[in-house]
Parts: sequence; structure tokens; C-alpha cells
Amino acid sequence: MLKQLFRRKPIDTLLGQMSSHTHLKQTLGAFDLMLLGVGAIIGTGIFILPGTVAAIHSGPAIVFSFIIAAVVCALAALCYSEFASTVPVAGSAYTYGYVIFGEFIAWLLGWALLLEYGLAVASVASGWSSYLNAFLSGFHIKIPHAISGSFNPAAGTFINLPAIIIIFLIALLLTRGIKESTRVNRVMVILKVSVILLFILVGIFYVKPTNWQPFMPFGFSGVLNGAALVFFAYLGFDAVSSAAEEVKNPKRNMPIGIIGSLVVCTLLYMLVSIVLTGMVSYTKLNVTDPVAFALQVINQNWVAGIVSLGAVVGMITVILVMMYGGTRLVYALGRDGLLPKSMAEINQKYKTPVKNTWTYATIVAVFAGLIPLDKLAELVNIGTLLAFMVVSLGIIFLRRKKDIASGAFKTPFYPVLPIVSFLLCAFLITRLSAATWTACGIWFVIGLVIYFAYGFRHSHLNK
Ligand code: ALA
Repeated sequence: MLKQLFRRKPIDTLLGQMSSHTHLKQTLGAFDLMLLGVGAIIGTGIFILPGTVAAIHSGPAIVFSFIIAAVVCALAALCYSEFASTVPVAGSAYTYGYVIFGEFIAWLLGWALLLEYGLAVASVASGWSSYLNAFLSGFHIKIPHAISGSFNPAAGTFINLPAIIIIFLIALLLTRGIKESTRVNRVMVILKVSVILLFILVGIFYVKPTNWQPFMPFGFSGVLNGAALVFFAYLGFDAVSSAAEEVKNPKRNMPIGIIGSLVVCTLLYMLVSIVLTGMVSYTKLNVTDPVAFALQVINQNWVAGIVSLGAVVGMITVILVMMYGGTRLVYALGRDGLLPKSMAEINQKYKTPVKNTWTYATIVAVFAGLIPLDKLAELVNIGTLLAFMVVSLGIIFLRRKKDIASGAFKTPFYPVLPIVSFLLCAFLITRLSAATWTACGIWFVIGLVIYFAYGFRHSHLNK
């Protein structure tokens, strides 16, 4: 039994699966991947988090919080890149876990990632819905209150219909093929980066250095707390690795895509936070739309409107790429027999996993439509950090496996870097609340039940 739990997937089987009849089309290059990464990364995080985090935790030193979170992500990203270039197969950390640690850990990793992608999609969709509401109200258009929020009869809201609609629209797009999806993604990413640059270029003229005093009002511990929170703003780069099977020359393009998108986002986040806290005192930034708010404070209302529109569009790409990652993960789980086989069926016309996409979208839409997700946001972080920890440690085991041909990309400063990456992620996890730990525990209990009731017996490795 124990031996079966830790059965590993032979790398040849994995690579062989790519050429079997269920294969996906290889269409993406390095630049497409970077766009996919930026599309997945920049979203709610930069448009909503800098305000509250600066006001309550970090002050103007929020720029340090962003840098610390970026370092944690960059180290994990290097480990991800090595895996992605060595094992370029759909499923991201789940697949890496299957090769290195065996089925049981792989399942737990996959389960953690379902939490990350699923809740990230759901929470960004509900955030998108409120931003859309705010944007439309600028034109005196109002979505009926009852259908604009999660199930909360006391507050008069029953279902978050805009959130549900956006999820299904994106599901439709994804079923039409990844090439079509990246085309839409590309336009939206350009728009989103443009409005961020617009904010920086306009805002920089209104910076008053006195607003940066005091620079670190809550001490370094506040900066660290802030880092644990703004970590969310970087999530998504790992979703790039789940596109591995649809990438041309993945050994070269994967690392460029992952690390490139992270670098672009870090620069933008640093600039936004420096300019934002320079424009308005951090004490006034505890609002849900800080970027637009700061522009209103300096009477640039038209720029504020454009930036809000960019935020609405920007969040769409986060939903798109996160949902893409989620469906490809479910695809990998279905292909391996840990979830029903229908989840790995490829539609012959569109060459995408159509059934899986609709199933996934429906489940996520239920979350987004009915459940208030603000308290669950930390859960997204914990799922991700757990995955990062396993991936970091996995590099050490990967290097020891002589049966796996090494990829084009290698993590530098081995073995120090993977170990530091592991420790930093563990450190950030300790800063998350007890409630998050409990909820995460419940999620894993459900995962264990499903594994032992279904996956363990249906796994392809049984054959
Ligand atoms: N990084 C993504 C965002 O900030 C999750 O919306």
C-alpha cells in the first residue's frame, strides 16, 4: 500500500503522452508566454491591494513589501523554470510532484493548486464584478442590487451574476482554442499595461516627497506583513508553466516566459507603489480603488476613468489565465486516472478539453456567485505557497534522479537557492492566520477522501 502511494510516474511515459492521440496543439512562443504571464499576474493585486496594505501595514515602505514578495516569487520561479524546461508536460507542479515524489504527494499538490486556481478565479471574478459596478455607475448605469453580490439576504444580495457571466464567457473563449485565447489576452494585456503606465506618467508630476514621511511607520515587521499580503499580486506566473505542452521549444521558451513576466510585473508594481504613496498620504489610502482614488484626489477624473476601465479589462485576463491553468491541471489529473477520464477528453474540432472546461467553470461559478470570497483570499496564498515549497525542495530531488535528462535551464546557486526558496515560502505561510490553516486543513481532508475513494484505484499506474 505504502509503495503504491509513492509510485512515481516514469518520465518517458510522461513525454510519451505528449505524442499520443490526446495531445494539445503546440503554438506558443516565448513572447506569448510572457504575455500569458503578465495577463495572469497583473490584476486585482495592483489595482486594489496597495491602498489597504500601505494604509494598515507598510506605509510608503510598501515598495519594500513588493520587493520582498517578488524575491520569494523569483526564487520559486527559478525552480519552476528548471522543472518546466526538464518536464515540459501539462499540469505544472502536480506533474513535477508525480515524477519526483510519487502519486500521493502529487495528488496533494494538484489538490492545493486546484484551490489556488479555483479560488483565485472566483475571487477575481467577484472583485471584477464590483469594479464593473463602480465603472458603470460613472455612466449612471446600475446593476440591480439583488444580483450584484454573493448570497447575503441580510444585505439584500442573492447572487453575483456579473461574476458568473464573466466566468462562463471566458470558459467559452477557452474552449475555442488556446491560440484564440492568447490573441484576446494579448490585446487586453497591452491595454492593462498601458493604463498602469498612464497612471505612473500622470501621477509622477503630483508626487510630494513629504508624503513619504515617515517612510516606514509600522516598522519592518509591518513591511513583512505587507509582503505576505501583496504576495497575492504576483500569483499567476506559475500558471505559465501549465502551458508547457502547447509551447514551441519549451526548454528555451519556458524560463524566458516565466522569469520575464515576473520581472516586468515587479518593475510596474514598484513604480505604482512609489508614485501612489507619493501622490497621497498613506493614511488616506484605505480604499478599495486606491489607484483611481489617487487620481481623483489630484483632480484627474478622466484619467481615473480610463484607469478603472483598464482595471476591469485587466482582471479579465487574470481570470482567463488562471482558468486556463486550472482546466489544464484537471486535464492532467483526468489523464492520469486520478479524476474521471472524461476530464482529459479533447474535443476533436477545437482541440481543447471542452467538457473539462465547462465542468470547471460551473464549479468555480458557484463559488463566485454565492460565496463571499474576501475571507478566503488568504486560502489562495496558502495553496500557492505550499506548492512553491514542494517545487523548491523538488529541485534537489530532481538533480539526483539520473534517469531524467536535464533540461536547458538550471536553477543557479544550487543547492542554496532552492533551500532558501523553501524557507522563505515557509516563513510567509507562518504569517497567515489560524482560520486559513483550518480551512486549508478541511480542503485537504476532502482531497484525501477523493483520492482514497477514487484516484488510488483508478490511477493509470495501476495498469
Ligand atoms: N496576481 C493576481 C492578481 O493580482 C492574482 O489579481
